Amino acid sequence: MQDLSLHLLDLIQNSIVAKANLVKITIHEDEKKDWLHIAIEDNGKGMDQETIKKAIDPFYTTRTTRRVGLGIPLFKATARRCKGDLKLESTVGKGTRIEARLQLGHIDRPPFGKLDDTIVTLILCNPEIDFVYSHNTNYGELKLDTREIRNVIGELPIDHIEVITWIQSYISKGLNEINGGVQ
Ligand SMILES: Nc1ncnc2c1ncn2[C@@H]1O[C@H](COP(=O)(O)OP(=O)(O)OP(=O)(O)O)[C@@H](O)[C@H]1O
Ligand SMILES: [Mg+2]
Repeated sequence: MQDLSLHLLDLIQNSIVAKANLVKITIHEDEKKDWLHIAIEDNGKGMDQETIKKAIDPFYTTRTTRRVGLGIPLFKATARRCKGDLKLESTVGKGTRIEARLQLGHIDRPPFGKLDDTIVTLILCNPEIDFVYSHNTNYGELKLDTREIRNVIGELPIDHIEVITWIQSYISKGLNEINGGVQ
């Protein structure tokens, strides 16, 4: 996968399929300690132990009659390649949490890609789902919570062009700030 945004999209697609109505994306970059944490948490249907094993290791079962997904194993491979790992916690009926840790400055660490477009696209395409995006760096914090936005906009839908344009610019500006003014 070319960039981390695509991994995020892929994992959040799983949350959407799992009927989550709240997805939390937490990114924590620490240049000084040289690590990066990415967590995706949802309140979807969750997974039982067997599904967890299969999701992490698609070759866990010898069954070949059903196709196996590769989204989680691919992200895990990326994390491992960057001196980190991936952890998956899930409870049936409660939700799922996937957390990856990577060495931030690792030569193989994929770039973030277009995080602003990614978050905006997720909100635009899934107006019924609430997203909480929080992103920390050594320079500051960016936080966006669609539940708070909904409170402010009242009757206006979250996917209204003016709301989306505002969200896009809020994230772009915020990312610029927490990247120390450089993108
Ligand atoms: N957030 C989640 N909530 C509930 N189940 C999940 C979640 N993420 C993954 N799963 C389960 O793990 C399986 C494997 O996920 P993975 O993304 O690797 O493949 P997939 O979604 O089946 O296929 P693909 O992503 O390639 O279209 C899913 O089919 C689903 O059963
Ligand atoms: Mg998937």
